[in-house]
Amino acid sequence: MSQLLIRGGRPLRGEVTIQGAKNSVLPILAATLLTGGQVRLQNCPRLRDVDASIRILRALGCSAEWEGDCLLVDAAVLNSCSISDILMREMRSSAIFLGAILARCGQAELSYPGGCELGPRPIDLHLSGLRKLGAEIDEAGGLLRCAAKRLVGQEIVLSLPSVGATENLMLAGCGAEGVTVISNAAREPEIVDLQEFLKACGAEVCGAGTSTVTVRGGRPLHGCTYAIMPDRIVAATYLGAIASAGGEGFLRNAREEHLSTVTAVLRGAGCEIRVEEAGIACCCRERLRAVRPVRTAPYPGFPTDAQAVLMAALLCSRGATVFEEHIFENRYRHVDELIRMGADIRVSGRVAVVSGVEALHGAAVRCTDLRGGAALCVAALAAEGETSVSEIEHIDRGYACMEQDLGMLQADIRRVETER
Ligand code: UD1
Repeated sequence: MSQLLIRGGRPLRGEVTIQGAKNSVLPILAATLLTGGQVRLQNCPRLRDVDASIRILRALGCSAEWEGDCLLVDAAVLNSCSISDILMREMRSSAIFLGAILARCGQAELSYPGGCELGPRPIDLHLSGLRKLGAEIDEAGGLLRCAAKRLVGQEIVLSLPSVGATENLMLAGCGAEGVTVISNAAREPEIVDLQEFLKACGAEVCGAGTSTVTVRGGRPLHGCTYAIMPDRIVAATYLGAIASAGGEGFLRNAREEHLSTVTAVLRGAGCEIRVEEAGIACCCRERLRAVRPVRTAPYPGFPTDAQAVLMAALLCSRGATVFEEHIFENRYRHVDELIRMGADIRVSGRVAVVSGVEALHGAAVRCTDLRGGAALCVAALAAEGETSVSEIEHIDRGYACMEQDLGMLQADIRRVETER
């Protein structure tokens, strides 16, 4: 078991390079199953969720090997079309493999992903879309048995813009005959990244980034070399870290066009943010002030994944800020841990009100989920004394090496091994 020990209260200064995006690489790893050749993914972050995807790929018969920060996947041979329950449980977003396996093999068997730390994680939209393309899906006993002799392109209207459903249907659409149109598609930048990857493999896909994604399926896909986009949530986390601790820092590769709702909040709170070609510079010299309500929404709205880290950054601000969570039911689990550090936060349903306090103090806290865990680190950077953050395996799901990155910004942070 590992912990992060963070001594707060000193401003940050320095430069950090933003890793490749978790939410981009996971669907792209599933998409490699559609290709018959070798895929070379550059800027691939070494994350627990990437390791889980690699284990799934290998269990299906593919090879996946690291070469520095490149991951080489060869999906020429596939000798299984099922994913074991153990592998499914390792990563809740593993449902993304369904569309790809089905498109490649004409059948797929995996267990239902179930709930996660953020609450129920339904995949009804994935399944109804796949059914519309011609898949027969049996959902008995927590198992998903899917079969489709052939998938045929259709128009699928999503009742809400689910990121995972959009991606799953894009992958299935690549294996379907004819044209698949996904309406009310999610517009997240990671969906654009998936489209660009598929195009680099020879697929005909367009519209990602808008509400209508069109896939002309049935073309054989080949391997390619592709660079994963920078992670906008990791960038939001480190912007939050600088805002929390004060100081200045440069986030190399961070792309403001993906982060404009986050930078707008930080600017409103009093941070100076300068956008450069190579990244984003952030400077915070004074106590922050409260901002207008922060409401999470599908992209291009404020990202739910940045809610916890921005909340943490505003804990010592002047005044009160209201947060409204509109994507997941259970996304305030970090609040009790922040309160242990002296934060004043009241939660009622989907609303959390953060009243700024004069100071935070170090405490023993534990991660409840990935972004909630990152938020504890952001708060700890502003706290007087030492904070120990435990259960950091949540953080390792999405941050390649948070202590190294924050160390580049001169934070006093170290990882220690502890007994259980
Ligand atoms: C993705 C991201 C996650 C992010 C989320 C929202 C990945 C690997 N993960 O998750 O980090 O927090 O987008 O930006 O990219 N829903 C249904 N039925 C479905 C699918 C979704 O009701 O079939 C609901 C969910 O319960 C949730 C909302 O739709 O309330 C959004 O979920 P979705 O966009 O699908 O999120 P994920 O793809 O799981």
